[in-house]
This record gives sequence, C-alpha cells and structure tokens, in this order.
Amino acid sequence: MAQIGIFVGTVYGNALLVAEEAESILKEHGHEVAVFEDASLESWLAYCQHYVLVVTSTTGQGQLPESIAPLYEALREKGGYQPALHYGLIALGDSSYEHFCGGGHQFDSLLQEIGAQRIGQVLEIDATEHPEPEVLSSPWVKQWAELIDSQG
Ligand SMILES: Cc1cc2nc3c(=O)[nH]c(=O)nc-3n(C[C@H](O)[C@H](O)[C@H](O)COP(=O)(O)O)c2cc1C
Repeated sequence: MAQIGIFVGTVYGNALLVAEEAESILKEHGHEVAVFEDASLESWLAYCQHYVLVVTSTTGQGQLPESIAPLYEALREKGGYQPALHYGLIALGDSSYEHFCGGGHQFDSLLQEIGAQRIGQVLEIDATEHPEPEVLSSPWVKQWAELIDSQG
C-alpha cells in the first residue's frame, strides 16, 4: 500500500473531477489517498518520501490556476531537492490555445529539476477532443496504479 497525495489545480472544476475519479481508482487498488486543493507546502512535504499525483488545468496564457500556483511557487522557492518523491502528472488543456497544457508542463519541469522521479508519461487531456476528461484519465490512472504496484 502506498501513500498518495493528489494535488489539484482547477478553475472550473474539471481537474477536480479527474482527481476525485483518480482517488477512487487508487483506493480500489488499496492505497491511502487524499486530495488537496489550495495545498500548502507542508501538505506536499508530507509526501516527499511517497507518491503524488498532480492534476492541473491551464489558464490565462499557459499559466497554472490560482488553486495550485502558490504551491508551485513555494516548491520552487523553498521545496528543496526531493529525490525520494515519485509522481505522476495529468495536464488538462485545450489545443486551441497557444501553450497547450502549459501549466501541467511547467509543474512537470519543476519536479524534474528538484530530482523527483516521474512514473509514466504526462497525460495531456484536450478539452476540444474530450469533453468528459475521465474517459481518458481513468484508464491512465489504472495503468499508473499498476506501475506503482510493480515498484513495490
Ligand atoms: C480563460 C482561459 C484560458 C485558458 N488558457 C489555456 C492555455 O493557455 N492552455 C491550455 O492548454 N488550455 C487553456 N485553457 C483551457 C482549460 O485548461 C481547459 O478548458 C480545462 O479543461 C479546464 O479545466 P478546469 O475546469 O479544471 O480549470 C483555458 C481556458 C480558459 C477559460
């Protein structure tokens, strides 16, 4: 059983829906899971030897939503090196915008810089093609859960 924190960045709630769906799938796999919105650095650091799943949309022109931007800044400024952290990343966006899934990719780059180990590929969900994001995210989360099981 792994401890998994799901950290959500959302404006209109789509990423939260994906996160809640992921929470139930990961719980079915026997993991201990909690979902965080407007998370503090402290809640993140509680997982720095465990697993996090970042689920974030993009707003503005390739920016992170306000519900996760302060966490990103705190991680960048004082999160330190986190080589024992394993993570997955689901990025919601819309390919009609110039910086497609820019917020998710920005978060992924930061986690790479601080030495965290990504499990699986970043999942991009394009709102123009997938009005129901869970249709794409659920099979991805199941696979992600299997990758965690195979590590452990
Ligand atoms: C004002 C606004 C700006 C957006 N900017 C981007 C963007 O720069 N890149 C992108 O990929 N998607 C962009 N999107 C699309 C959203 O990320 C997408 O609709 C997503 O599904 C919203 O998820 P949420 O409800 O969790 O915020 C934008 C949407 C709005 C309304």
